[in-house]
Amino acid sequence: MMGADGVAQVARTIAVINNKGGVGKTTASKALCEGMAERGLNVLLIDMDAQANITTWMKAETAPDALTVFNLLEKPKMPLSDCVQFMDGCDIIAGDIAMKDLDSVLSQGLGRELRLKRALEPAMDVYDYIVIDCPPSLGLATLNALVAADDVIIVTEPSMFSINGFGNVYDLVESIKVDYAFNPDLKIDGILLNKYSRDEVASRAADEQLPAIAELGNTKLYAARPMKHKAIEDAANNKEPLFGFRPNDAAVAEFRKFVDEYLGGE
Ligand SMILES: Nc1ncnc2c1ncn2[C@@H]1O[C@H](COP(=O)(O)OP(=O)(O)OP(=O)(O)O)[C@@H](O)[C@H]1O
Ligand SMILES: [Mg+2]
Repeated sequence: MMGADGVAQVARTIAVINNKGGVGKTTASKALCEGMAERGLNVLLIDMDAQANITTWMKAETAPDALTVFNLLEKPKMPLSDCVQFMDGCDIIAGDIAMKDLDSVLSQGLGRELRLKRALEPAMDVYDYIVIDCPPSLGLATLNALVAADDVIIVTEPSMFSINGFGNVYDLVESIKVDYAFNPDLKIDGILLNKYSRDEVASRAADEQLPAIAELGNTKLYAARPMKHKAIEDAANNKEPLFGFRPNDAAVAEFRKFVDEYLGGE
């Protein structure tokens, strides 16, 4: 793709991660894709999770009716374009239940940490952004996402159980950047505190502790803090676009603010 200045652009890749489940990774990934599509940006979404939640949300097909991210990672010669579906304003590579066995299937596979990065090479001059919705673990799927990514977004809920796990996330990012030099420029863009509730002790504790914890990871906390609201759950359950579903609800507006913050006014 050509930028306004005639210079070839390269897709920016975002890994949305946390080893804790149910914190809002999929919701944040969906918000990013919708917000980017609204701006006319060309987006590829990759569902790395065996639960395939975002695939279901976007009404995309999975195996055996479509080729998925599992097929892409398993067979190094699989053409990327064969795995892409167009749904709901953006391109998606579907999740697949087979991803739950990725670690064992690829345990002896050559270049197993580099498979996604390599597979995405032909996408680099096609898309503006590539958003990777990761599973709730730090296994090979998340590792592949981190090797392919420019930016990491950590999503958390206020509970200390989620926040205490950041040490593992930071260690993994550091390993990928420095110890193994798979991806020296990898950066944690920020931490999104989701399911925030001013009235809860856990949210107030997170308010107090997260800025210092963010600093430990050389990153920042996004100012947007989507509160807990049923509209968010309902959008996913009804397979509706997040921003099209009761857009005036405060939590929906907050997810929009998060996308604005990530894009920095783009
Ligand atoms: N701000 C919110 N308010 C209310 N419900 C929310 C909010 N954010 C997410 N949810 C709901 O919480 C559940 C988990 O969210 P989501 O699927 O985005 O998390 P996840 O981190 O991707 O989970 P997993 O680890 O299982 O992939 C979903 O039912 C979602 O609709
Ligand atoms: Mg998810």
